[in-house]
Amino acid sequence: MTAPSDRALVPFVSVAQMMSLIGRIGLKPMLRGLADEIEADFRRWEMFDKTPRVASHSDIGVIELMPTSDGESYGFKYVNGHPGNTHQGLQTVTAFGLLADVATGYPILLSEMTLLTALRTAATSALAAKYLAPRDARCMAIIGNGAQAEFQAMAFQTLCGITEIRLYDIDPAATRKCAENLRNQGLSLVLCATAEEAVQGAQIITTCTADKQYATILTDNMVGAGVHLNAVGGDCPGKTELHRDILLRSSIFVEYPPQTRIEGEIQALEADHPVTELWQVVAGRAEGRRDPAGITLFDSVGFAIEDFSALRYVLNQVRAGAECDLLDMLADPDDPRDLFGMLLRAGAV
Ligand SMILES: NC(=O)c1ccc[n+]([C@@H]2O[C@H](COP(=O)([O-])OP(=O)(O)OC[C@H]3O[C@@H](n4cnc5c(N)ncnc54)[C@H](O)[C@@H]3O)[C@@H](O)[C@H]2O)c1
Repeated sequence: MTAPSDRALVPFVSVAQMMSLIGRIGLKPMLRGLADEIEADFRRWEMFDKTPRVASHSDIGVIELMPTSDGESYGFKYVNGHPGNTHQGLQTVTAFGLLADVATGYPILLSEMTLLTALRTAATSALAAKYLAPRDARCMAIIGNGAQAEFQAMAFQTLCGITEIRLYDIDPAATRKCAENLRNQGLSLVLCATAEEAVQGAQIITTCTADKQYATILTDNMVGAGVHLNAVGGDCPGKTELHRDILLRSSIFVEYPPQTRIEGEIQALEADHPVTELWQVVAGRAEGRRDPAGITLFDSVGFAIEDFSALRYVLNQVRAGAECDLLDMLADPDDPRDLFGMLLRAGAV
């Protein structure tokens, strides 16, 4: 067998390589870098091809494809959501993604995205809060202390100046894990026995629970004036976290309305209930927080452009020398039309 040509090779960033990249750059600078990339792409939102993600549901989870393109590059992410997985020692969410060159259709990067999704979700949440949360917010509650929780805490510390985190999970072991992981990160941590206790004094409330049903993590009486809600866990049809009455009192901000109406908290509302697209706030075309006493809700479901931004960030790191493998992923016959001949010459047929 002859060695594959350069054209056959696609850079691949494995989980181990992503961990070294995070270690080399530093988690906080990387969260900042990702938020900058996402913010830059939100400012040019109209240039992107957009579609609600393609979801394949089962009784116990969902598998989704999330494509987008800016005309120059094309990207997609494969991601699952299986809330019961942790009982078998598996992640609720795993992901990988790809960037391709629109001019040739050739893939230019393949990357793990389980870690990258946690980073980009947290970076997007904190970016939204920068525009929507009260400016003096220093205390955040995190309800749901699983895989995403520490990333959310660190992003809000880095990008929004949060200094105190109040933690609650129905499973106290998850809260203990989270507190232990965040112990030396310069945050003041309060472990709470109920969600009601967790939201006390919090100006930002992040919900990132996983449950394949309509859950009521927050009831109306738990959300006071001036609070910003960062609802991350409700991201599938039939899977929400907030009581409908909270939505009716909130100014609601979303990523891509056609997807959020299917998957977000607002699936509990009328199809024409007014929402503001976050990119419009970022681009200065719509107002973010108007009233200090108002309730703002970022109804996050995760959108393809955030993954595209994150993949481009990783591609730039790879081009600057970050560690990766080169996968022999694309057949490259000497004569492009002689694919069969390539097999013949290799003795495979
Ligand atoms: N919006 C986005 O962009 C985005 C991105 C990634 C993940 N998610 C979603 O975020 C959620 C969390 O993901 P994860 O990877 O951290 O999952 P995980 O399974 O690791 O953690 C979820 C935690 O929620 C807790 N929980 C479940 N029901 C609860 C309740 N009623 N009250 C308090 N805690 C409760 C569980 O005990 C668990 O510790 C999932 O629903 C996932 O689909 C959204």
